Amino acid sequence: MAAGAFLLDSDKKTRYTAVSMNPPAIAIDGPAASGKSTVAKLIAKELGFTFINTGAMYRAVTWYTLQKGVNPADTAAVEALLPGIPLSFGKEGANSTVVYEGRVLTTELTEKSTNDNVSAIASIPAVRALLVEKQREYNTREAVVMEGRDIGTVVFPDTKFKYFVTASEEVRAARRAAEGITDSIAERDRKDSQRACAPLKKADDAMLVDTSDMTIDQVVAFIAADIRAKLAC
Ligand code: DC
Repeated sequence: MAAGAFLLDSDKKTRYTAVSMNPPAIAIDGPAASGKSTVAKLIAKELGFTFINTGAMYRAVTWYTLQKGVNPADTAAVEALLPGIPLSFGKEGANSTVVYEGRVLTTELTEKSTNDNVSAIASIPAVRALLVEKQREYNTREAVVMEGRDIGTVVFPDTKFKYFVTASEEVRAARRAAEGITDSIAERDRKDSQRACAPLKKADDAMLVDTSDMTIDQVVAFIAADIRAKLAC
């Protein structure tokens, strides 16, 4: 066995055995409502890895900024809030969480005001630097499936497990509506793709997975098979 390889469990299914490297990091990027969260969560469960929702981290900073009455477009004021920001990024079971004053943030993260302002907050380089560091910290301890916009390009550029999950705009809007969420995903994607710092972008070496005509189970099976094949070599 080559040094640095990962072994599959004897049942060739769930956990891995690290020989000499950081635990594996699976990068799943894509636009809003592409299905990447659902897929990432299921893949994490299947492999026994921790699921990290990085969008929730940007949303939490957005919510906190608004709580403090700071204008998300005022970069200097947002930056001033960051040192000692009272949000902690942990996990509950196999999923990442954001905790504020002892409680896990949930509905706060999808409030309309949070939806409307998260792209502005996510475009601030100092916010990204802080959160990318927290995201990498998760992977020093454990194998992760991390979903976001820049995981394959910025957070883990060297991982061999990169997937860019997308779907047509119509399919994505319909999926969002079915969840009862009416934010403007096209507008958010435009802002996320056009920002200067770590824009939404497929990494050159990421596998493109168009889920428009696939079921969730098909997407999960497809990506999990590719990960298993790569883990084994
Ligand atoms: O995945 P989501 O829709 O919850 O993400 C919310 C916003 O956060 C999204 O509009 C872009 C931003 N984001 C980002 O810039 N980088 C990430 N890694 C994750 C999310």
